[in-house]
Amino acid sequence: MIEILSSILASDLLSVGAEVQRMLDNGVDSLHVDIMDAHFVPNLSFGPAMVSALKKAFPAVHQDVHLMMDNPEKYLDTFISAGAGAVTVHAEVPGDVRAMLAKIRAAGIKAGVSIKPGTGVDTIKELLPLCDLVLVMTVEPGFGGQKFMADMMPKIAALRELGYRGQIMVDGGINADTAAQAVAAGADALVMGTALLRAEDPAAVVRACRALEGRT
Ligand code: DX5
Ligand code: ZN
Repeated sequence: MIEILSSILASDLLSVGAEVQRMLDNGVDSLHVDIMDAHFVPNLSFGPAMVSALKKAFPAVHQDVHLMMDNPEKYLDTFISAGAGAVTVHAEVPGDVRAMLAKIRAAGIKAGVSIKPGTGVDTIKELLPLCDLVLVMTVEPGFGGQKFMADMMPKIAALRELGYRGQIMVDGGINADTAAQAVAAGADALVMGTALLRAEDPAAVVRACRALEGRT
């Protein structure tokens, strides 16, 4: 099954609740919440209060929380209790990523690891048994609206070659065309911001992505 996630970063921030409802009405499965600390990436976005506000308004909707921060271990409990359904940490952060993944899983939610474009899959080989999802960044993390990096696709095949059977998520510059490339490479979770929220017909974008089912 392909999971289609709407990134709230591309929403009209004065109307996040309405934007989320609009995306759900257009057929997305779940929400992707980008947390940026201005250190790990050169941008600031949301904090745990966004996750808890979304949880309160949309209790049944899965929230995939992407932590782009230098010290995620200090905030895991906060994001877990705020209502995250999955928490992804970056492989590049200092600290014990293995322990972070174990802690996330122990809380009964999905644990993910993400790799920036410059990070190879070999770096996370040992972590794979602890992961429910691997997030392959297809842009440099930090901003929405960037161009998809097609040269990241071999990482997806490499993860499967390593025997990894969990979810592979792509994030950055995903639209119906680039989603097709990612799914053909073996991805099964698509994060979409700009291409979905700014689309004239978001339902058509979702339908085009759903039609990729089985093309891996
Ligand atoms: C970028 C974020 C993405 C972003 C994607 O650092 O991790 O989730 O929202 O936005 P688009 O789809 O516009 O590239
Ligand atoms: Zn993201």
